[in-house]
Amino acid sequence: MAAKNKTNTKSKTKKGKPDPVVVSGMRPTGALHLGHLNGALKSWQRMQDESACYFFVADWHALTTEYAATDAIATNVDAMILDWLAVGMDPERSVLFLQSEVPAHAELFLMYSMIIPVPWLERVPTYKEQQEQLEGRDLSTLGFLGYPLLQAADITAYKATQVPVGEDQLPHVELTREVARRFNRLYDEIFPEPKGVIVPAARVPGTDGRKMSKSYGNSVDLTDDPEQIEKKLSRMVTDTRRQRRTDPGDPKDCPAFQLHEIYCTPEERAELTEGCKTASIGCLDCKKVMIKHVVAEVEPMRQRRQEFEKRPGVVTEILEDGGRRAREVANATLAEAKEAMGL
Ligand code: TRP
Ligand code: SF4
Repeated sequence: MAAKNKTNTKSKTKKGKPDPVVVSGMRPTGALHLGHLNGALKSWQRMQDESACYFFVADWHALTTEYAATDAIATNVDAMILDWLAVGMDPERSVLFLQSEVPAHAELFLMYSMIIPVPWLERVPTYKEQQEQLEGRDLSTLGFLGYPLLQAADITAYKATQVPVGEDQLPHVELTREVARRFNRLYDEIFPEPKGVIVPAARVPGTDGRKMSKSYGNSVDLTDDPEQIEKKLSRMVTDTRRQRRTDPGDPKDCPAFQLHEIYCTPEERAELTEGCKTASIGCLDCKKVMIKHVVAEVEPMRQRRQEFEKRPGVVTEILEDGGRRAREVANATLAEAKEAMGL
């Protein structure tokens, strides 16, 4: 009974449900593209109106794979914050910060490393997958194995209830739930179990039809000007049956049309589908309709980015303020966790 009384007090509101708290991060990989925009940033933006939000650049996570080539990390952090601002992330409504400026993440990670069995980490599917994919790099490091555990620390430091991520990240959120459960059971009921919130358009195709990714060289970046966007998307792969203008195709088998699904109106899509199936339009005509919408969305962002770029020190300022606010919350959680552990 005593154990029961101890539980469910600290992290819950009077109604017995924790207030929604959103946490998510991105590794500083360089220029953001349409995949990030539709896969994450649009939903982050929506969430900042509804919940307490913490969004950070995961520079420690970048080290797990880039430890041998760290030159680009600092530049990429700056570029990422500028991109966030450009798409409308608001440092007033969200706490925007840099992971390595909040040491509490690392302390929680250390504490979790004492209670989490290594096989839990070895069986996270991304572990073996990534090791195989990124061959030529020695990824037998402790840090790489611990990647999802650091992510668990990121998330629990703010007692997050919701974690907007792409599908590939769900196993990491699941591990976080297991970490929270184990901690709560061993010591005290401190952490809510966060839910992974799958963002709808998590898989945006690149110009070659594979998932859009900087490393594939198939991305449309948020820094691209209208000409660059037009050039890239005009060359995007389509239904291979449309070899000639007179060959009919099917939008269902067309990678480009997945962008139409995101960007065009239902009326436009219906008309273009008809045109594709009857070969009454060419692929370029069809794409032009979509390209117009993409440019209309990205161009104001590119211009806003340029405005922010003109303000010296704007990124530093935002990260200093965000770091302060993040540390306040994360340090309070850390103190609670240490006390629960008897430290
Ligand atoms: N692992 C995530 C990715 O590669 C980035 C990340 C780090 C993250 N910590 C996080 C995402 C915490 C959500 C919550 O995309
Ligand atoms: Fe794709 Fe449009 Fe060409 Fe059809 S007409 S294959 S939908 S680009």
